[in-house]
Amino acid sequence: MADNNSNTKTLRHLAIIMDGNGRWARKRFLPRFAGHRAGLEAVRKTIKSCVDDQKIEVLTLFTFSSENWRRPAEEVGLLMKLFMTALDNEVKKLHERGVRVRVIGELDAFPPELQQRIAAAEALTENNTTLSLNFAANYGGRWDITQAARKLAEQVERGELRSEEITEQKLAQMLCLADLPEPDLFIRTGGEQRVSNFLLWQLAYTEYYFTDLLWPDFNADSLQQAIDSFSKRERRFGRTSEQVKGEDDA
Ligand code: IPE
Ligand code: IPE
Ligand code: MG
Repeated sequence: MADNNSNTKTLRHLAIIMDGNGRWARKRFLPRFAGHRAGLEAVRKTIKSCVDDQKIEVLTLFTFSSENWRRPAEEVGLLMKLFMTALDNEVKKLHERGVRVRVIGELDAFPPELQQRIAAAEALTENNTTLSLNFAANYGGRWDITQAARKLAEQVERGELRSEEITEQKLAQMLCLADLPEPDLFIRTGGEQRVSNFLLWQLAYTEYYFTDLLWPDFNADSLQQAIDSFSKRERRFGRTSEQVKGEDDA
């Protein structure tokens, strides 16, 4: 069994699908890109609130999915530019606040300048401990599981591992973010109720929260509402309610 014995109410890791930028812009008769720019402001607010108000340890943001390459080339190009400028402008400030930045996904597909910026941001902030901030970029949950399986297969090929020794735990160790607790709460804005190939393995026992708010409208109050909903839930991890209540009293 996976190690799912975390305290029922502790929110250590928050994962968010930031959806609805395009619709936010359209409602204002603006180009979709204006929505992405406004979305960046919501990212800033969310990070600030996670650090200052909520004391969350890990925040993982879906920034660009492996399927988002299917969008018009112009939008993809502008998103890359926005990501690059944001890294340039924000990393120093994040570093000063003790935030560790990581980018998970298939990074080889990105322009070399962007890859360099990512590597530099990760190296600069490597030892920070206030918040672990992960951007999932060209990320897909199926890709993550596949790359983990490939690493195990390589160990088998080298004779370092026998196939019968492959366990859930061994596979989990090869996934992105293996060193961090799994998400406790998953938020998706924008009204869609789907996972869109985000952290498939890691979300197995996460609490889900969907809101119709469009991502640029998300703020500290919206985050608080999601967390209030989370804190009312009973995370049973397969046990009965009576068992869980007994543990809480212990
Ligand atoms: C999410 O907003 C941002 C990215 C996927 C990069 P969308 O761009 O998907 O916004 P909608 O869903 O079209 O409103
Ligand atoms: C998911 O949003 C990816 C990100 C937020 C980066 P999409 O808007 O691309 O998801 P689908 O395609 O509507 O499911
Ligand atoms: Mg969308």
